[in-house]
Formats: sequence, C-alpha cells, structure tokens
Amino acid sequence: MIPRRTAVVLFLVLVPGLACGSGERAGHAGTAEDPWVIGMSQCNLGEPWRVQMDADVRAAAAGHPNLRVIFKDAQNNSLTQRAQVEEFVEQGVDLIVISPKEAAPLTNPVAEAYRRGIPVIVLDRAVQGDQYTTFIGADNVRIGRAAGAWIREALKGKGRIVELKGLMTSTPGQDRNRGFLEGLNVEGNPGLEIVFTGEMQWLEPNARREMESALATHAAIDAVYAHNDPGAHGAWLAARAAGREGDMLFVGIDALPQEGRQYVAQGILDATFLYPTGGAEAIETALAILRGEQVPRQIVLDTRLFTRENVASGGEAPPD
Ligand code: FRU
Repeated sequence: MIPRRTAVVLFLVLVPGLACGSGERAGHAGTAEDPWVIGMSQCNLGEPWRVQMDADVRAAAAGHPNLRVIFKDAQNNSLTQRAQVEEFVEQGVDLIVISPKEAAPLTNPVAEAYRRGIPVIVLDRAVQGDQYTTFIGADNVRIGRAAGAWIREALKGKGRIVELKGLMTSTPGQDRNRGFLEGLNVEGNPGLEIVFTGEMQWLEPNARREMESALATHAAIDAVYAHNDPGAHGAWLAARAAGREGDMLFVGIDALPQEGRQYVAQGILDATFLYPTGGAEAIETALAILRGEQVPRQIVLDTRLFTRENVASGGEAPPD
C-alpha cells in the first residue's frame, strides 16, 4: 500500500543548474542514447531503510531510459561521502542526489557542487544553509511530536520513559528529539518523567546496549521511544532478555513493511510512524529539474501511524 503523500510547496526557486549553466553537459536533451546522469550518494547501506531508499530510486529510474543513476555507498563515513560528492562534480554528472550522514561535514561539498552549477537534491537528512536545489523528506519534528503525544496518551499522563536517540549530528535525530519533548509535554503532565536517554546512533546493537543500562538502573520503565525501528527492536531485545518486555510500551519510527510494520503485527512494537524514503519523489523531482522546470525548494512527505489495531488495515494519519 502506498500511503498518501502530500508535497508542501514552501517557495519556488529557479533551478540553479539551469539558471547559471551547469558545465559542459548543461541543457543536453537526455535521451536513451545520451542519458542524463544522476550521481546518488547514500550515507550507508547497512540499514534496511537505506537499502529500501536505493531500491525505490532504482525502481523509479527504471521507467526512464533517458536517466542513468550511479549509486555510491559512503559506508557511514562523512569523509567518504564528501569525496563522493567531489567525484561526482569532477565527473560532470547532470545532477546529484545525496542522503547525507551528518549535516555539518556535508554542507560545504554540497554547496560547492551547487555553486558549480550542478543541481543537488538533498534527501531525508538535511545539510546546513540553503546552497542546494531542493530538500525532500518527512517532517521529523511532526513525527516526534506525534510519538510523544501517543505515548502521553497511552500512559494516561503517568509513567517513566526511556528515549533512545539517533545520531544527534544528523537533523532527524535533533528534530525527533525536539518534537518528542513537545508532544510528551512533561511540564503539563508532571506524572511523566524521562528517566533515561541514550544515543544509539540509529543502530540496533547500540540501542540494545543502551537499554541494558536503562534496565539495570531503573526498576520501573513504562515506555521506550526510539528514533527508529531498529532502535526500538534493540530495546525490546534487551527487555526480553531481562524478562521485562511485557512491562513497557515500545515505539519506533520508519514503518518499513518488512521491518517496523512486521514488529507491530508480531506484538513486538506497540506503534511505529512511517518515514518514507522519498526515493520515487527524488527521481520525479530530478526529472523536472533536468527538463528545466521549476521545483519547490522543499518537498515535505507525509507520515502514518501504525498500531496493533490498525496495522492490518494500512495504518492511519496521526492526529496533528
Ligand atoms: C537509516 C535511518 C532510518 C532513519 C533515518 C533517519 O539510516 O537511521 O532508520 O529513519 O536514517 O535519517
């Protein structure tokens, strides 16, 4: 099932590659014989969600013989990813898609490519400033807020909570934390308390270790909020090993059909929020840019809430 997506147009800009000319290949037609070349830099392929993003890009591009995508995997290293962007520029690709590991170290290479006239689509995690063509991703503050509100309601305003954060040098980690604190609203609900926070950097084994510390130091835990589903699953594994998984709720983010949604259907997670990969939208937007059309400066993808009650019927829009 493909969830409904909404694209929110914040404001329009001229496409820089076309406005200022993008090197030798500027303006070439993009045909099956001489296709447009897109360089795609993925921050890592060690996580199922990122494998899905590349698969979504590949599937969307397959329908367009006038496009060729070169995939690179930065293996979770910002310096490697920086070098990949620089290589794409040297190669003279027509457009770059990047899903950056961290905001700060990738800001300059992206800005440099953009200044040299190559359109850049930033996907899922942001960079700093505005030196890129368009950003595509879901609203992580909104998702975090919805997760906080869901836990507040599920606990009826009373309980001890563990937060397992993603990589806090990446924007989704920062935004999912900020939104969560807003949605949980501890100030307005003094019965709620965040008793433990850990940075699991998006990775299940780290989440499991952090949760072991939380369990060792807190006899009562009522809910775990992890910034992604691998994190929530790692926490559940730790709680199960301690025989305590039945005492608390587990909430994650991503909701891949083969991962988070399965966990919910199996009764492992209580809720997960869809974080769409944006792969198909990236190809759609790339084509528009390459054809010389104007594109929104920011494209915001929608989310969906999956719980035990609704997972079989495709989830529901979370309350705002
Ligand atoms: C994969 C991932 C997802 C998460 C996203 C945030 O690397 O950790 O699980 O939702 O990145 O950028």
